[in-house]
Amino acid sequence: MRVKDGLLMAAGIDDIAVYIPRLFVDAADFASARGLDPAKLQKGLGISQMAMVDTNQDPACLAANACLKIMQKNNLSPDDIGRLYVATESALDESKAMNSYVIGMLEQVYGSESFEHCGGIETKFACVSGSYALYDNTNWIRAGEAENKHALVVVSDIAKYDLGSSGEMTQGAGAVAMLLNDHPRLLAFDPKVTATSIKDEYDFYRPIGKETPIVHGQYSNLLYLIQVKKALDAYKKKVLSTGLIKLKEGESFLDYIDYLNMHLPYSNMGKKALAYLVRHEWRTLPRWKKIIEKIGMEEPSPKDPRGTIESILADADFMAKDHQFTKLLTNTEEFQEIYEAKLASSLIAPKMIGNLYTASLYLGFRSSLEFEYQKGVDLAGKRIGFGSYGSGSSAMVFSGVIQPEYESIVKEMNIETEIGPRKKLSLEEYESIHENKLSLNQNILDGKKEFVLVDVATNPEFRGQRRYVFNE
Ligand code: HMG
Repeated sequence: MRVKDGLLMAAGIDDIAVYIPRLFVDAADFASARGLDPAKLQKGLGISQMAMVDTNQDPACLAANACLKIMQKNNLSPDDIGRLYVATESALDESKAMNSYVIGMLEQVYGSESFEHCGGIETKFACVSGSYALYDNTNWIRAGEAENKHALVVVSDIAKYDLGSSGEMTQGAGAVAMLLNDHPRLLAFDPKVTATSIKDEYDFYRPIGKETPIVHGQYSNLLYLIQVKKALDAYKKKVLSTGLIKLKEGESFLDYIDYLNMHLPYSNMGKKALAYLVRHEWRTLPRWKKIIEKIGMEEPSPKDPRGTIESILADADFMAKDHQFTKLLTNTEEFQEIYEAKLASSLIAPKMIGNLYTASLYLGFRSSLEFEYQKGVDLAGKRIGFGSYGSGSSAMVFSGVIQPEYESIVKEMNIETEIGPRKKLSLEEYESIHENKLSLNQNILDGKKEFVLVDVATNPEFRGQRRYVFNE
């Protein structure tokens, strides 16, 4: 933390803005077209709608629209912004960074060269790179490099899977812009406790030139849980050794985290992750005995507890018992209480929107603020824990505290108003857009007061150059 006039300076999120494309696919329509039980999407995965981009939108447009919103809302000029980072795994170019496209768009509104002073890069590590970008920019502020300017971190992605694949039901699109400074009104990050884990893996990846990822779905689910648990263990060591959290006999550090926000490739993954992490944490505490009695079965263990993810997934007997154990755990009063109190509100907006890759965690955070505030909870001083995961793979666990001025921002939050009027796509329209059968000027919505893509050059000399306009 930076020290100024003898006082420790906070650094964190001052405001947050969301841009979600207004086209969507309804989960029930999708299920019936693919011969699936709609309950699998709605109850099994927690998906009601998936946001889709129009023909004239790309991840850079989504990011620029979110940045424009946050700048206009806060009456900021480009001079107020010292850094603009874009975190994405939907890169448009192998070399040119997405923040340069975003700056080009913003300069159409704020004037040519108005962002000339503003540094930044595009960051990549699947869904976790937004968290690394936030961390790096927070440290830029803590180091005193910001000179009273803000950092703008925007996370933007289009989650697109092959037609007919098991990932197709977990698509979505959108961007979240976060304004960072040393006097944040929303959330100040806890210093010296951010923890990471990393491992070279192929659970989900997108080879160069391929539009959709190669996914090992069940492998990715388990890897997510293991990696986040490792980062959480490292976070726990740090919160205890720094004295941020002091435990009494029989307590868990999770008792001191008021809200948990998890990476949400589909909203029920949040519940799955909470069950896994809670189980890991509570196992050694006195309360576990009572919970095991209620569950009525011992915690199963795999035939080879030191085995690989493949060997655990192949252990059908263990997987079935483990599934049963998890279901029983999630039905206990103890789990229901922590689920409702700490996680449930973060899942509401993601259910309506789908996977946003880098932006999913932050849409969940935004959702948690809005829906907890609506319940009448005073959020000031509440500690928020974040469990970020990116395939490939890395996890990051960190936390922050809601600031006293939060209410001025959160009271205005309304995700439905922020998205605007939505249009449901027919399955035919969805598939035509998905398969790139429509040209970019065959857009379905008018995209007024937004940045849209108008051209991608195809002639060899300028191939790939993109032109955007702000639609008055
Ligand atoms: P699947 O294997 O077809 O689904 O695809 P399932 O059989 O596991 O069923 C899903 C849930 O629905 C289960 O609940 C079923 O019981 C339930 P759970 O056991 O988990 O509690 N279910 C039903 N419920 C009610 N009524 C029914 C019914 N049928 C089943 N009739 C999978 C699921 C997620 C694997 C697939 O969609 C997929 O591959 N998605 C893409 C990969 C992904 O999202 N992985 C998540 C972890 S990795 C990650 O988060 C990183 C990522 O965001 C990328 C990045 O980092 O960049 C993906």
